[in-house]
Amino acid sequence: MNSSIFDVVEMAPDDPILGLNEAFKTDPREKKVNLSIGVYCTEEGKVPLLNVVKETEKRLAESGEPHTYLPISGIPAFNSGVQKLIFGAGSEVVKSKRACTVQSLGGTGALKVGADFLSTILKDPEAVVSAPTWQNHVAIFESAGFKVGTYPYYDKQTGGVDFPAMLTSLQGLKKDTVVILHACCHNPTGVDLTQEQWAQVVDVCKEKQLIPFLDIAYQGFGNGLDEDAGAIRQFADAGIPFFVSNSFSKSFSLYGERIGALTVVCHNEEEAKRVASKLKAVIRANYSNPPAHGAKIVSTVLNDPELLAQWHADLKEMRERIKEMRHALASALKEKGAKVDFSFIEDQNGMFSFSRLTPEQVQRLKDEFGVYAVKSGRICVASLNKANVDYTAEAIKEVL
Ligand code: LMR
Repeated sequence: MNSSIFDVVEMAPDDPILGLNEAFKTDPREKKVNLSIGVYCTEEGKVPLLNVVKETEKRLAESGEPHTYLPISGIPAFNSGVQKLIFGAGSEVVKSKRACTVQSLGGTGALKVGADFLSTILKDPEAVVSAPTWQNHVAIFESAGFKVGTYPYYDKQTGGVDFPAMLTSLQGLKKDTVVILHACCHNPTGVDLTQEQWAQVVDVCKEKQLIPFLDIAYQGFGNGLDEDAGAIRQFADAGIPFFVSNSFSKSFSLYGERIGALTVVCHNEEEAKRVASKLKAVIRANYSNPPAHGAKIVSTVLNDPELLAQWHADLKEMRERIKEMRHALASALKEKGAKVDFSFIEDQNGMFSFSRLTPEQVQRLKDEFGVYAVKSGRICVASLNKANVDYTAEAIKEVL
């Protein structure tokens, strides 16, 4: 047989998160629970179409706009809306125009555009991620030519953050190292820094001239839109340059629309204009310009007080239901006499809980009970509901 140029291509492993989601869909068992991917589901086990999205889509359909190209950096009103959302409307960063924002293909696209841009301006690009982190952080920065290391974060003994170790590690980094930080609702652990701890991280980044890159994919899922942006606002007050990738996949339940943004905070407006021009060049060479539908929805909502209030209400409902499910799972495990204390689930933030289950226990959950979790032990508590939480607790108890 003739040789093929593809002989050298080896089968790549399934993605640790999306691969599981695919496997779940084809699992023929009737009794199964998908706690793998970070997707919020309603009490009925469905991905919601938010009321605010339904209403906005109706308005957009009635407007009968044609499907033309967007500018390379996206819809201007979307980008300015993002800045107000992450920095706060009255923020000095917004008023001084020293930040530039470009629309992106979800939070992942924002990270990728940011990483590609940084790799063009840094000599030997290095980045650090929390241990553990969302696996795609590593893949994105490595694919942009970065050497990627880690800084200590999760403390297995206490189930909290090993903050002294984290701080010491950051203090030892060389100038211009990109520090990837989860602004809220840490993925995968659900364990966040306090505002006092963030203040110390800001000081170290400033003193050591590190480049903070704050990933905020779950704004509004922790304690509220403003509360969850506390870290970003502290960095803004420090007057140093930094990056923010944000996503509307979860907060608008617009997963498939791939809608997010990259914001780069600079020293002044002139610098921000130059940076924006380079971000556009990165986007143009990748996918030319962004898709429109999701951006139109988000932009309409962020710029209309009535729709904005409706979104806040939709988001509050999701946030409160997640907290309710955290409580329900921890209580069910306690009632069933689980031999491990799972009360920590209630102290964590956002969609995820680091369950402390081992890879073997996670495998048994899937094989014996059809309960899918990520190998690291991460479970998506936002997929629990009153109908599956008891079954999930029983399954967890059985594999301990
Ligand atoms: C997750 O962590 O499950 C989500 O952010 C989905 C993804 O792209 O991995």
